[in-house]
Amino acid sequence: MQIEFSPLSIKPAPVHIVPVFADRRLDSAGLHPDTVADAERILTSPGTFEGKTSEVLTVPGTANGMLVLIGLGKPEALNALACETAGGRLAKALSDQKLARAELVLHLPADAALSSSQAAAHLAHGALLKSYKFDKYKTAKTGEGPFLSIRVADAAAAERAFAPMRESAAGAYFARDLANEPPNALYPETMLQRLIAELSPLGVKIRALSEDDMREKGMGALLAVAQGSAKKPYLVTMEWDGTGGRQKDLPIALVGKGVTFDTGGYSIKPAAGMDQMKFDMGGAAAVVGAIRSLAGRKAPVRIVGAVGLVENMISGNAYRPGDIVTSMAGKTIEINNTDAEGRLVLADVLTYVQREFKPAHIVDLATLTGACRVALGTAFAGVFSNDDDFAAAIMQAGAAVHERGWRMPLDDIFNRAMKDTPYADLVNAASIGGGASTAAEFIKEFIEPGVKWTHLDIAAMASGASGHPTLPDKIGNGFGVRLLDRLIADRFEEKAPAASPTPAPAP
Ligand code: BES
Ligand code: MN
Ligand code: ZN
Repeated sequence: MQIEFSPLSIKPAPVHIVPVFADRRLDSAGLHPDTVADAERILTSPGTFEGKTSEVLTVPGTANGMLVLIGLGKPEALNALACETAGGRLAKALSDQKLARAELVLHLPADAALSSSQAAAHLAHGALLKSYKFDKYKTAKTGEGPFLSIRVADAAAAERAFAPMRESAAGAYFARDLANEPPNALYPETMLQRLIAELSPLGVKIRALSEDDMREKGMGALLAVAQGSAKKPYLVTMEWDGTGGRQKDLPIALVGKGVTFDTGGYSIKPAAGMDQMKFDMGGAAAVVGAIRSLAGRKAPVRIVGAVGLVENMISGNAYRPGDIVTSMAGKTIEINNTDAEGRLVLADVLTYVQREFKPAHIVDLATLTGACRVALGTAFAGVFSNDDDFAAAIMQAGAAVHERGWRMPLDDIFNRAMKDTPYADLVNAASIGGGASTAAEFIKEFIEPGVKWTHLDIAAMASGASGHPTLPDKIGNGFGVRLLDRLIADRFEEKAPAASPTPAPAP
């Protein structure tokens, strides 16, 4: 979708978008009188449109062509998420109706909680996020999608407010672009190349450990997963420092599961739906996308992202159920299910990140268990944490961007199940139920004392959902990018010193 902001002026457009507030309130400033008359006629017929957030109504054949009503709810309750939601619903309606051009006049009443230009920027952000398409492999391209022109009193202020949102959205777009690539095109080495091409120009320092490097460091868990594939694995770290070297201690590291395809290995997955396992790098995509967002908007924070990129395949060299491997941390693991590979990858990436960078906080994201999907569906990511405040901060950041999480239990019962073997320190899969929690307990075994850690199981969230306000329907969606971006902005960025305020731009 292309988006432009321009000043208020009453000009005819083929598609008019008119915001309606709660109780069918209309603000007629900047609207053509015929448009106002049409909108009022529709709003007076009972039951058609209330003006609630996320309502959209398209009405063809009015005096000025197509009329699209979008609900914004109560003006005094308007916030970023409500505007994003309205923008997302609008984008969906425009694309469903195959409308090439549309014009929105945004003039908020005096009691609105946001300025018109802020609201315009958030609305544009939601529309941009929702309208993502992946048509790279279609020979007939659908083009850049609808052109949305937003008319607002102070178009320059809207443009300024939108600039960092465009960068944030670019992070989500990057994550989605990676996730939706087919697994024959996107595998560890090509994913690494894409990261370098996208992030290096933004000033992100990228380091990649090769298979030999990882063998030398004793990463027997990650390498066991990788050994059945003809594709070489990589462990990639991405460092962004927007503090100019001031921040010596690393406040937070982001870790992602990057299984570019998960066949299950010899504990093979059923045929139906196996194609979906190209999305098994969704955690890594979220981490990479978040780093893209932060670097793009030059966030004042020092941060490290780390992803384990491997492919879980079957071959004469693949790992077997019954194998015992030694992780970088030194713990031995009996493989009782080759399909529980994500936790093996995370174990070694987590150890490496903690030894190399000494982060105070770690959040890991992984499409880890079908069990989490059973528990929470596509409504929530599973949240597992050893620190209540940190978990709460993550859920709050998620709620603010509608990438929601729900706290799930860690417990000694689950922990004991992961140690229930005569042969090694740990097993990689348990059979006591609670599969999302046993997986989380396994990962916890690799968290060093004092580190505040939260694990997000995004198995059901990273692809396939429909009806989300700002994520695209059905395809790989970059879930987690915005949650992380928001978490960093709220909790981890250096705040500008209050003593020397820079003059605020005119509202
Ligand atoms: N990548 C899968 C989890 C998954 C399932 C993601 C469905 C998205 C949709 C993971 O590697 C896996 O296979 N987990 C197993 C663990 C089990 C063998 C202990 C699972 O959930 O069945
Ligand atoms: Mn698996
Ligand atoms: Zn997997």
